[in-house]
Amino acid sequence: MADDTQVQVVGVLGCGLMGSGIAQVCAQAGYRTIVREVDQAAVDAGLDRIGRFLQSGVERGKLTAEDREEVLGRLTGTTTVEPFAESDLVIEAIVENVEAKQVAFAELEPVVKPETIFCSNTSSVCITELAAATTRPDKFIGLHFFSPVPVMGLVEVIRGLSTVDTTYERVFEFAQALGKKPVSAPDQPGFIVNRLLIPYLLSAVRAYESGCGSLEDIDTAMSMGCGHPMGPFTLLDFVGLDTTYYIANIMYEEFRDSAYAPPPLLKRMVLAGRLGRKSGYGFYQY
Ligand code: CAA
Repeated sequence: MADDTQVQVVGVLGCGLMGSGIAQVCAQAGYRTIVREVDQAAVDAGLDRIGRFLQSGVERGKLTAEDREEVLGRLTGTTTVEPFAESDLVIEAIVENVEAKQVAFAELEPVVKPETIFCSNTSSVCITELAAATTRPDKFIGLHFFSPVPVMGLVEVIRGLSTVDTTYERVFEFAQALGKKPVSAPDQPGFIVNRLLIPYLLSAVRAYESGCGSLEDIDTAMSMGCGHPMGPFTLLDFVGLDTTYYIANIMYEEFRDSAYAPPPLLKRMVLAGRLGRKSGYGFYQY
């Protein structure tokens, strides 16, 4: 008899940069994966991004063309919630907005099985708050991936106040089955990685503002001096200046510590629409 606690089908809400990466690693780990977007164009763009990443993996000799087809065959794109009826675990990766996330989970509740686990890939929203708005706070948990999802090895697993042990254990094991290294992080803004990374990125902006060096010199110093794969400004452009600004504000609001206060230059760049790679212009031009 099949083990009814085993995850077989994964639902992913959102097929943007994070959602498509999450859907890809789930399908690569052998799970049938359903991914939902708001309209067909967004579904097609997300699946296309996955196809391109897998194709580049084939060209790099990381997987075979046959593997790529098998992975794509395990992925289904949809604009509706009905296909999520089969899902054993759902990972939400939509916009960083509490109301939008609550609406997305509320739409799923009448469709999914009572035992289905809800995970959020949020990097800043309180897990306990999201869980409390559902009828299954005991089966709700944070599962935070890092960009680029198919490449970065870490996931943070965040228990809300009501998350029960069995949910935590199943999700921890699920993260391992994806080939990721899970770490437990507290339900506090920034969890572990952003708690340390955001003040570092903000202090790089402050250092630049105060004439510490050019963008290129600060980037070179941190990548070659500390062995970081990217200097802080390349990383800021990669993560998104709006995302960094948003997370910093949430952390500042919670901790009231000036280390998390976004510097004026960051705010003005966001107001000017210089968001990094995604807008073609951030600290650097693309
Ligand atoms: N298929 C399979 N593997 C692939 C791949 C593909 N299509 N494309 C890349 N890779 C893998 C390969 O394993 C490659 O390693 P090998 O040397 O073994 O081939 C590795 O990725 C690096 O690929 P590249 O050599 O093409 O690229 P790179 O060396 O320039 O690295 C990078 C790119 C991985 C993005 C690297 O610059 C990096 O790690 N940057 C930092 C990223 C980071 O800090 N991310 C976290 C951001 S914070 C966040 O996400 C959380 C939040 O809440 C804001």
